[in-house]
Amino acid sequence: MAVQEFQRISADDLESWCPWVGPIVRGERPYGSRTYRASQGEYEKNYAACSAHCERLGDAATPEAIRRFQLGMDRAREGGRKQNLCVSFGEELVEMEPGEANKLYCWILTDAIKDAADTCNTIVELGAGYGYLISRLAESVQGVQFVGADASENAIALGRHLFRNDNRVSFKRFNFYEASSYAFLAELDPPLLVYTSHAIEQLPTARPFLEHLEPYRASIAAVIHMEPGDHRTGESKLADLRRRYIETWDYNRDLLVELEARRDVSIIRREDDVIGLNPLNPSTLSHWRYTRP
Ligand SMILES: C[S@@+](CC[C@H](N)C(=O)[O-])C[C@H]1O[C@@H](n2cnc3c(N)ncnc32)[C@H](O)[C@@H]1O
Repeated sequence: MAVQEFQRISADDLESWCPWVGPIVRGERPYGSRTYRASQGEYEKNYAACSAHCERLGDAATPEAIRRFQLGMDRAREGGRKQNLCVSFGEELVEMEPGEANKLYCWILTDAIKDAADTCNTIVELGAGYGYLISRLAESVQGVQFVGADASENAIALGRHLFRNDNRVSFKRFNFYEASSYAFLAELDPPLLVYTSHAIEQLPTARPFLEHLEPYRASIAAVIHMEPGDHRTGESKLADLRRRYIETWDYNRDLLVELEARRDVSIIRREDDVIGLNPLNPSTLSHWRYTRP
C-alpha cells in the first residue's frame, strides 16, 4: 500500500483527530493500574452491548456487523460525525475511512499468519473476543481448526452464537494470568499457531503469558503478535505522545523486551508500529518460535 495515496495529517493536528491527545498533553491520569478486574470490567460492558446488538439484528448478525457496531462505524455515518480516522504507518499519519483501515489491519495480520499456518493444524487466538479476526482468517486459511480464547463470558457466548454453524471454530474461557487456563492447548491437534492482537496489551507485563505458555512449547510451531511495541526510544513529538499514552493507560510495554531477552526464542520477524488504527497505540507485528529447551 502506498501511504502517498492518502491525505497526510501532521502530528501537530493530531489533537483534532484523537480526543485522548489533550488529556495526555495536560498530564491528566484518568486510569490507574491496569489490573485484571479493571480491564475485564471494561470488556464485559462492551461485549454485553455487542450481544444486545446481535439480538437486535437476529439472523442478520455476523461477526462483521458486530465489528461495525463495536467500532461505531454505523453511528458515525448516521450522526454525521467525522467519519474518517487518523491512522498511522510507522510515523506517517494519514486520513482513512474506518472500514478501509480495519480491512488493512486484518490483511496485515492474515498475511503474516497465512505463511506460518501452512505447517499447522490448529490456530489459536488468545484474547480473541467474539472471534472477529478468526472470521476474517477463516476466509483465507483452509484445512485448520480455529480456537478463540478470552476472559469475557459475554464474548465467548457471543462467539459461540455467531459461529454456531461453523464446526471449524470453537471458543474457550481463558485468563492470561492463570497457568491452569492454558491447559486446553494440550488437547488441541498440533502443531499449533498461537496469535494475539491487542490482548497482551491488557497485561502491564507479558511475563505471566510467557511463563504459562512455555509448558506447551513442544506443540507450538509459531507465535504471532499484533501488540504495542517497545516505546522506550524515539525523539519525535509523536513518539513522546505514544510513550505517554501507553503509560497513562498502563498498557503492555515489555513483550518485545522480554522476548528479546530469552535465549530459547527466535524472533523471525518484527515490524515496529506497522499500523495504528489508534495512532497513539500502534501495532507492532512480531513472529517468533521456541528454539531449544
Ligand atoms: C482490545 S480487545 C482485542 C480483541 C481481539 N483480539 C481483536 O483484536 O479484535 C482485548 C481482548 O482481551 C481480552 N482480555 C483482557 N484481559 C484478559 C485476560 N486477562 N485474559 C484473557 N483475555 C483478556 C478482552 O476480553 C478482549 O476481548
